[in-house]
Amino acid sequence: TQGTGRCRAHTNIALIKYWGKQDEQLFLPMNSSLSLTLNAFYTDTKVTLDQALKQDVFLLNHQKQSAEQTLKISNFLDLFRHKYSISAKICVESINHVPTAAGLASSASAFAALAGAINEAARLNIGLQELSTFARRGSGSATRSIFGGFVEWQKGTCSTDSFAIPLDDAAWDIGMLIVVVNHREKIISSRQGMKRTVETSPFYPAWVKSSEKDLVEMKKAIVTKDFSKIGELAESSALKMHATMLSAQPPFTYFEPDSIRVIQRVQELRKKGLECYLTMDAGPNVKILCRLTDMDKLKQELSTEFSQDQMILSGVGSGIHSLSEN
Ligand code: DP6
Repeated sequence: TQGTGRCRAHTNIALIKYWGKQDEQLFLPMNSSLSLTLNAFYTDTKVTLDQALKQDVFLLNHQKQSAEQTLKISNFLDLFRHKYSISAKICVESINHVPTAAGLASSASAFAALAGAINEAARLNIGLQELSTFARRGSGSATRSIFGGFVEWQKGTCSTDSFAIPLDDAAWDIGMLIVVVNHREKIISSRQGMKRTVETSPFYPAWVKSSEKDLVEMKKAIVTKDFSKIGELAESSALKMHATMLSAQPPFTYFEPDSIRVIQRVQELRKKGLECYLTMDAGPNVKILCRLTDMDKLKQELSTEFSQDQMILSGVGSGIHSLSEN
């Protein structure tokens, strides 16, 4: 096999969070989750199958990556090589388009773009739903980055039925303002953090139960285009997830003093009639869900406390697409 493929994937932010696996090997989640794909952050990946290569090569932002980083990519590529009997070694060249200060995880867009690029390079013709099961094996949240707009990742029962489905990618008056509180390395990776939470938090079973209920409500709110309900459910899902971490053993939190400041500002602004809701992931940055038409106002309100380069705006992003000309 010889060939190249080029693919772009956008990152996504969960509105109903994924936090915990029932199978770590297969990346089967404990609960279904739901996200919004963002247009501001994406990864472009080129894959070249090359019989002449002795081993896989991984370049990120033009820099050759370490053996350890390359091994993670090789293991992921093996999923395709095994299933489709591909023997060639592979060169992966990725460019992350994430504003340098954003400090946002890029594993979601990275594995979705890689899955798309290998699908094209090896002419596998894997459909998007099935492709999302491959992306999942790189990083759980990557499952959802295959599609644009609102996306559900159904937890499923086994590897083949734990996939993403697109819910709505119509033009919405919705966006996110990301407040960058700190872009240092995470104190604990999401992979380790969720594992510890599942194993030790007495609140974990309640989290799973409440997520399933929130998901049903969220899907209704999307169908009825009920922005307020979407925001309330998203904020609640994020805060409940973070509460499970404080109750883990040993306890941990991604909150920093400035994260709390943003949370308080969001709640105040809401009281003043500016409808916005927050969500947070495995890091201290706060993402604020708002109407696109309120974005400038929101930014202005926050600019008394946060600098211009601490605030990044994003609209809704699309699903993966090929960057090849032919
Ligand atoms: C808090 O997808 O990064 O962002 O599956 O172990 O790679 P792995 O974890 P990852 O976890 C994401 C956790 C989250 C919530 C979410 O995106 O749903």
